[in-house]
Amino acid sequence: IDELPDDLHIRPLSSSDHSRGHIQVLQALTTVPDPGAQAWSDRFRLIQTASPQTYYPIVILDKQKDTIVATGTVFMERKFIRNLGDCGHIEDIAVDKNVQGKGLGKRIIQALTGISDASGAYKTILDCSEDNQPFYVKCGYKYAGVEMAKYN
Ligand code: ACO
Repeated sequence: IDELPDDLHIRPLSSSDHSRGHIQVLQALTTVPDPGAQAWSDRFRLIQTASPQTYYPIVILDKQKDTIVATGTVFMERKFIRNLGDCGHIEDIAVDKNVQGKGLGKRIIQALTGISDASGAYKTILDCSEDNQPFYVKCGYKYAGVEMAKYN
């Protein structure tokens, strides 16, 4: 597992992280309107309480600036196949533009894969663009087919 520099800290998303730029760091991924502190809190509480031990959002914090610089989530899908097996889904990986290419994305993927493994998943999967494929290969993931989507 890669070391982080002393000024950075990796930890679970916390209930007060709206004010530490959680939404802003997700802007590296897509357009993310800020839902506001209350709606953000409601969503945070929903994923903690409605589905305990299912959603594991994590962040990397710049300790000096008290600001989030990277984030990602793994959520556990409970299956009937594979002897009632669990499948980890990695979602919404984003590293602040100013600190991309310094190994933070890889560190997030290592942590999320570790969480999924530790919770007993028989596999961990993710969807990505072709552009990001080399990044995930460097993180130990293999090409495994085609994603389909139907957007509303
Ligand atoms: N093409 C080729 N190699 C890459 C790429 C790329 N697009 N991105 C990273 N790498 C390589 C790096 O050079 C590095 O190689 P090395 O170990 O030999 O030095 C290795 O992959 C690890 O790179 P990191 O420095 O950890 O990458 P970074 O911190 O920039 O994170 C990420 C990568 C998450 C793609 C980041 O650039 C980002 O946030 N991009 C915009 C949002 C995005 O596309 N997120 C992923 C969506 S897919 C999903 O969420 C499941």
